[in-house]
Amino acid sequence: MGICDSTMELSKTLFVVALLLSGAASMKSQAYFNETGDLPCHFTNSQNISLDELVVFWQNQDKLVLYELYKGEENPQNVHPKYKGRASFDQNNWALQLHNVQIKDTGTYQCFIHHKGPQGLVSIHQMSSDLSVLANFSQPKIIISNRTENSDTINLTCSSIQGYPKPKKMSFVLKTKNSTTEYDVIMNILQDNFTDLYDVSISLSISVSPERNVSIFCVLQPDSTQTQLVSQPYNIDAKPPMPTPDRVLTVALLLLLFMSVCGLFVLMLMKRKRKQPGPSRECGESVLVPSAERHCVATSLSAAFWSLFAQPRLATKTSRWLEGEVSPLDPT
Ligand SMILES: *[C@@H]1O[C@H](CO)[C@@H](O)[C@H](O)[C@H]1NC(C)=O
Ligand SMILES: *[C@@H]1O[C@H](CO)[C@@H](O)[C@H](O)[C@H]1NC(C)=O
Ligand SMILES: *[C@@H]1O[C@H](CO)[C@@H](O)[C@H](O)[C@H]1NC(C)=O
Ligand SMILES: *[C@@H]1O[C@H](CO)[C@@H](O)[C@H](O)[C@H]1NC(C)=O
Ligand SMILES: *[C@@H]1O[C@H](CO)[C@@H](O)[C@H](O)[C@H]1NC(C)=O
Ligand SMILES: *[C@@H]1O[C@H](CO)[C@@H](O)[C@H](O)[C@H]1NC(C)=O
Ligand SMILES: *[C@@H]1O[C@H](CO)[C@@H](O)[C@H](O)[C@H]1NC(C)=O
Ligand SMILES: *[C@@H]1O[C@H](CO)[C@@H](O)[C@H](O)[C@H]1NC(C)=O
Repeated sequence: MGICDSTMELSKTLFVVALLLSGAASMKSQAYFNETGDLPCHFTNSQNISLDELVVFWQNQDKLVLYELYKGEENPQNVHPKYKGRASFDQNNWALQLHNVQIKDTGTYQCFIHHKGPQGLVSIHQMSSDLSVLANFSQPKIIISNRTENSDTINLTCSSIQGYPKPKKMSFVLKTKNSTTEYDVIMNILQDNFTDLYDVSISLSISVSPERNVSIFCVLQPDSTQTQLVSQPYNIDAKPPMPTPDRVLTVALLLLLFMSVCGLFVLMLMKRKRKQPGPSRECGESVLVPSAERHCVATSLSAAFWSLFAQPRLATKTSRWLEGEVSPLDPT
């Protein structure tokens, strides 16, 4: 029984050692598109063998050589053209750096270390690693197609480009003061046939309430391991409540009529005064204002006061109209 147990233990240990030696345990490695990725080898060189006695090389899953170090010297002869000039050996970590990583570089790589001794080449270490490549999607961007006048319907498009892998979800989020609504929309996905990167977009046609301020965001959820990307908000400000145009018009016209009648009346009075100078003239023109004139001024002042305080928007509207900025028929 004891013998049996120890044999099993031994075989287990041997199996694990064999596994490690064969490199069946593979390392995971991650790199960003167009940047540098590491292909590890995890060689400890416990025997302190000089590089001059070693042959070190990496190959991909199709057995194409990425890099070879032959007795301490780079040997480009065996390197496949697609890896020429793209790899460098990191002697401190016994790792290979692969530059300008492409999505197509995703895959399994193996590193081999042989000892070139008197008896020829002896394999002393080998390991495989899985390289995955990521590309960060650009910040999503909302584009509004031309909004037709007086329409509460807007067409939204949001896009984000050059990411990898395929994102999980993209949506619009509408936020008002007291509500948040998410619109899940089916993504349009385009894959670049050269870089393999994805461009994604969504479109939505919605009606927004003109009484409330609305902020629209576009949210992209890339791969589950990556963080959400959120666009800049697109804000739609509430339209101020609209006064009915006929009221504006009536008040404005009345005011104008009143003021012109007053003006006319005052003019007439002044003319008459000039023609027949009476005793009141000596009493001090500057002090005494004719009562009709006074009345007119007071009424226009009160009218202006009333329109200002009772209907502040009406007043601005009217004054803007009077200044010729807006037409009284313009509803906005
Ligand atoms: C790759 O990176 C270089 C600079 O390192 C940059 O000029 C180039 O535009 C990038 N290419 C892509 C496709 O992102
Ligand atoms: C390894 O060997 C080199 C010479 O080849 C020697 O200089 C160095 O001290 C050795 N290091 C260890 C840890 O034995
Ligand atoms: C990608 O995004 C992550 C975090 O979201 C960041 O840490 C990383 O530096 C970014 N990489 C590139 C190449 O932009
Ligand atoms: C909006 O309309 C203007 C002119 O009417 C046009 O030049 C512009 O391209 C349009 N924009 C969109 C996003 O349709
Ligand atoms: C919005 O899209 C709908 C169809 O989805 C179209 O009928 C409408 O004319 C578009 N409106 C604008 C302002 O682009
Ligand atoms: C949000 O609040 C406003 C008042 O601030 C209220 O009139 C409206 O009904 C509320 N809407 C919802 C969906 O609760
Ligand atoms: C890749 O896209 C280009 C246009 O961007 C097209 O001309 C070419 O035929 C495409 N190649 C393949 C293999 O689909
Ligand atoms: C909308 O926002 C503006 C400021 O951006 C604020 O002055 C206004 O009161 C808001 N309107 C509503 C209806 O919340």
